[in-house]
Amino acid sequence: MSEMWNSVAPGWEANAQFVDDQLALATETLLDAAGIGEGDAVLDLAAGPGGAGLAAAERVGPNGTVVLSDVAAEMVAVAARRTSADQRVSTAVFDQSEIAADDGNFDAVISRHGLMFVEDPVAAVREAARVLRPGGRYAVMTWGPREQNPWLGLVLDAVGEQFGVPFPPPNVRGPFSLDDAALLTSVLQDGGLAGVQVQTIATPMHAPSLQAWWERVPKLAGPLAIALAGMEPDVREAIAQRALSAGASASRSAGDQILFVGSVLIASGQTPQH
Ligand SMILES: C[S@@+](CC[C@H](N)C(=O)[O-])C[C@H]1O[C@@H](n2cnc3c(N)ncnc32)[C@H](O)[C@@H]1O
Repeated sequence: MSEMWNSVAPGWEANAQFVDDQLALATETLLDAAGIGEGDAVLDLAAGPGGAGLAAAERVGPNGTVVLSDVAAEMVAVAARRTSADQRVSTAVFDQSEIAADDGNFDAVISRHGLMFVEDPVAAVREAARVLRPGGRYAVMTWGPREQNPWLGLVLDAVGEQFGVPFPPPNVRGPFSLDDAALLTSVLQDGGLAGVQVQTIATPMHAPSLQAWWERVPKLAGPLAIALAGMEPDVREAIAQRALSAGASASRSAGDQILFVGSVLIASGQTPQH
């Protein structure tokens, strides 16, 4: 798992600002859901280049702290480069299923597009709850349903159609594995959180052109990048043509850009007070 994400860390570094801009409004909603304010100690899990945690650092002020953590050391290195001047922000390499922190260490735990990749999300939520203080807040963002995110779904469909099997395979935790509000609610509740709420936020996805969209998505989507890298050039080209053709139908032009619809879920809850 970490090797796969390490391999796409350069693509994430190159596109970090794009991802942060595209998710800026949804990220503010995530931070609201986590109740992040002045002086808080915040943990960002599966932080990648750290965009959500860096947005949290804007809120915690001079007395707060933020830890950007990820299982992939290369991703953490990217996050560290983006934060080097900020004393309040530190980085750490660990799996969200086994957090290297004491019980009750944080006021808030957040994760933007990280929980859906873990084998046992309920256990991961329970582990996050362990490092929260009593009454601490947890909030995660996951992608909404595939059909509401054609900018990614179409590329995965193009791979699947090429081989006549679903991609990613049903037994692999992919970007849409927590795309349902009822499922997310039960994951957080079974992980020990109270007051669980889920909201849907529109996250339209723009690109300078269809070609730019096609070239960017595989640089960010870990499982997709690995699959495409292992294919013969003519197979990759056939997939590109399928994706470009489907993308032309699913996008619309907006000024000098093209625009796809997009949607995320934001789920939050808190640890019991005692
Ligand atoms: C889609 S990226 C999101 C990155 C970042 N949170 C953002 O929104 O910009 C998913 C991230 O999850 C990390 N990841 C995947 N499985 C993980 C795990 N079990 N524990 C911690 N991080 C994990 C990957 O290394 C990758 O950085």
